[in-house]
Amino acid sequence: MASILVLYFILFSTLFSSLNGKFSEQFPLAISTKRMEKMTRLNFYFHDVLSGSSPTAILIAGPSSKMANKFGSTFMIDDPLTEGPEPTSKLVGRAQGMYSLASQHDIGLLMVMDFAFVEGMYNGSTLSILGRNPVLNTVREMPIVGGSGLFRYARGYALARTVSADQKTGNAVVEYNISVVHF
Ligand SMILES: *[C@@H]1O[C@H](CO)[C@@H](O)[C@H](O)[C@H]1NC(C)=O
Ligand SMILES: *[C@@H]1O[C@H](CO)[C@@H](O)[C@H](O)[C@H]1NC(C)=O
Repeated sequence: MASILVLYFILFSTLFSSLNGKFSEQFPLAISTKRMEKMTRLNFYFHDVLSGSSPTAILIAGPSSKMANKFGSTFMIDDPLTEGPEPTSKLVGRAQGMYSLASQHDIGLLMVMDFAFVEGMYNGSTLSILGRNPVLNTVREMPIVGGSGLFRYARGYALARTVSADQKTGNAVVEYNISVVHF
């Protein structure tokens, strides 16, 4: 009974503070001890190749290719993910999906992609990313919204940092650090 009163207090105090214009509030949810959750951290490099005879990212919608880097430009990607920063480094997966220039005020991409892993026990498992990527920032954070296989019920975040970017071709290598909680 006492705990129900406490719960009511928490619920109503949250409600009132939001009515007072407070933007956010956090409070603990019930802690489940039924299943052990795991935390996984991953580190790999993403290779986005726009130039040459076999690009891994192609413009599929938006302004004409002469103005490829304009609001609305949308690229379909199938980018290799490797263990190290060199393109010849061991393949651990592929980033498959799309990104679009979604900001009219700065360079901000909307990323919608799956990381499809091929390495070791992760072979066949995926992680799904949906988030904003302000590419000129040194480190960008994007949400991991789900996963499959070993990553069922995944949630977490990715930190991305550009290692190299060719101004002329647009080719880029990006380091990703992933932290996910899953079953
Ligand atoms: C990953 O799994 C696929 C399909 O089961 C298999 O063909 C492939 O050889 C595996 N790759 C690695 C690196 O284990
Ligand atoms: C990823 O983690 C490594 C090791 O902790 C660190 O050196 C690197 O700066 C991190 N990169 C990003 C993009 O967070």
